[in-house]
Amino acid sequence: MNKIPEILIHNTVSMPVLGLGTWEMGGRQAPELSEDKKWIEAIETAIGYGIKHIDTAAIYGAGHTEQLVGEAIRNFKRDQYFITTKVSGDNLQFGEVLRSVKASKNRLGIDQIDLLLLHWPNPATPISQTISAINKLLDDQVIRYFGLSNFPVELIREIGFYTDAPIITNQLEYNLFTRNNASYNQNVESEIIPFCLKNGISITAWRPVMKGKIEASTHHLLVALAQKYNKTPFQIALNWLLSKPLMMAIPKMSSKAHILENIEALSFEMDKAHLAHLDVLGI
Ligand SMILES: NC(=O)c1ccc[n+]([C@@H]2O[C@H](COP(=O)([O-])OP(=O)(O)OC[C@H]3O[C@@H](n4cnc5c(N)ncnc54)[C@H](OP(=O)(O)O)[C@@H]3O)[C@@H](O)[C@H]2O)c1
Repeated sequence: MNKIPEILIHNTVSMPVLGLGTWEMGGRQAPELSEDKKWIEAIETAIGYGIKHIDTAAIYGAGHTEQLVGEAIRNFKRDQYFITTKVSGDNLQFGEVLRSVKASKNRLGIDQIDLLLLHWPNPATPISQTISAINKLLDDQVIRYFGLSNFPVELIREIGFYTDAPIITNQLEYNLFTRNNASYNQNVESEIIPFCLKNGISITAWRPVMKGKIEASTHHLLVALAQKYNKTPFQIALNWLLSKPLMMAIPKMSSKAHILENIEALSFEMDKAHLAHLDVLGI
């Protein structure tokens, strides 16, 4: 199996274009323990197939998802995985950020978090205060890099005043059919992505396969392209997404079939004209 391609961000860190999402592995807002074995095996399988980047968050399963990730990575070497986790938008005061990250690190069982994201912005806490905590975590080498999630342009611009550290990524809801109509940000394709690209900030597309609910049959173009390239509609959708500059995707995959299907989505190139037709499919 081919290695997952990587992108170099800010001349600082290289990250694979395909990672693994973990939302709903081990619970939503509360821990759900009944399927632990299944989730641990899914994460192990993904890493076994060369998926290094694991995306999780402090709030997933109220911390239980991070514990499952910690279990799964235990038998792999440190250079086989790259862990992104997030501090909740409800915990962005200086001390809260430090406490949250310490707890995440303990649950994950690692010495250093590779990439820490601010999960969503919170107007109740001055962002300068949050970034002070980020600067401390970077100085103390508790985290290697930091980034954002669901952040609008004005706030990204403001963060530049409070730190010299590069913003590695902005994680945004983005896929073939969700462009400027995401649940959190309304102007992802028209404003946020162009601004990020101009400033060298990568995009991590969350919900990249629309929770497995792409209704291909209602989209003639998707069906036709899937036939032409001998791929599934999901592979066409993911290939389109990852043809974009500085773009990464983190589908949640718990079945081996989906892991293999999504890795295989990176193995071909579509004609520019076909990509352009897909460009105008979403809103
Ligand atoms: N920053 C944020 O605010 C935010 C918000 C939401 C999510 N996220 C992150 O982004 C990740 C991905 O988003 P998501 O989990 O909401 O949605 P998603 O990745 O678009 O969808 C996951 C669902 O799609 C299925 N699937 C995966 N590959 C498929 C394929 N090739 N064909 C058909 N179905 C497929 C999975 O099934 P199986 O599990 O059965 O394989 C799962 O049910 C999350 O897990 C989380 O890490 C971040």
